[in-house]
Amino acid sequence: MTKIISFSNQKGGVGKSTICLQTVFYLVEAGYRVLAVDFDPQGNTSSRLSQSDEATYTGTPSVRLFDENMHEIQPMKCVRGMDLIWTTKNDPELSEIESLPLNCVVNPITNLKASGILDNYDYVLVDCPPSLGRKLVAALTMSTHVICPVQVSGFALDGVEGLLNTIISVQEELNPELENTGMVINNLKRGFEEDMITRDELRKAVPDLVYKSEIGVRGQLDVANLNGVPVWSIKKTSAREAGKEIRAVIEELMEKVG
Ligand SMILES: Nc1ncnc2c1ncn2[C@@H]1O[C@H](COP(=O)(O)OP(=O)(O)O)[C@@H](O)[C@H]1O
Ligand SMILES: [Mg+2]
Repeated sequence: MTKIISFSNQKGGVGKSTICLQTVFYLVEAGYRVLAVDFDPQGNTSSRLSQSDEATYTGTPSVRLFDENMHEIQPMKCVRGMDLIWTTKNDPELSEIESLPLNCVVNPITNLKASGILDNYDYVLVDCPPSLGRKLVAALTMSTHVICPVQVSGFALDGVEGLLNTIISVQEELNPELENTGMVINNLKRGFEEDMITRDELRKAVPDLVYKSEIGVRGQLDVANLNGVPVWSIKKTSAREAGKEIRAVIEELMEKVG
């Protein structure tokens, strides 16, 4: 059965796209058939995976998944071997999904199932937008699993409760199959006492909901993102270290996903 994994958090800049992108690379390298779906109107994941100008994007954009009876879905083939249901940068149509009637959230999974394309993939990875809206609920409704990247510095944890409650409502009302694999701490400032305290408090409060592995501040992840490459392919000690950390997270995710 195809595993569908959402990378979710109601905040921007916490590492959703980074961890999603690196997981795509990891799974493609491992020989799996992978489809990435970009629900974030910023379109970063699409540009990084496509490695091409958006004027040349082909096939179905992610906004079309929200149409009624959209049963012909054609993902775009990317050079690195994954397929992509893309969005262009700042696509106003994808932003406008938030004003559609609430029941539009079931259209993506209904359409994907009816199209038959899910059979072509072992994994579908969904990069979510940074808000608790229709697109996030649609992503959770189509997923078998969700992973929530979080940061512990400043106010970055504020609102995470809203995310966890959104996941629970989706499990109760729309998708009982959805499994929350938990929160993964990203961008941890290990030398910074307040961060370490917040981290320990989070681990104590919800021990089963926090990944064992965590990711520090790793500038090479930024470099890998910019170039659209796996961080472990960069020939630098610091990139190797970053690669080790993010791979540990991905392996933990894969253990949970099975
Ligand atoms: N662990 C990390 N160390 C350093 N930079 C990171 C780390 N995780 C993410 N980043 C950078 O932070 C920015 C935001 O990350 P991103 O994955 O785009 O967040 P989101 O998708 O949640 O908005 C990007 O420029 C990314 O390269
Ligand atoms: Mg993002």
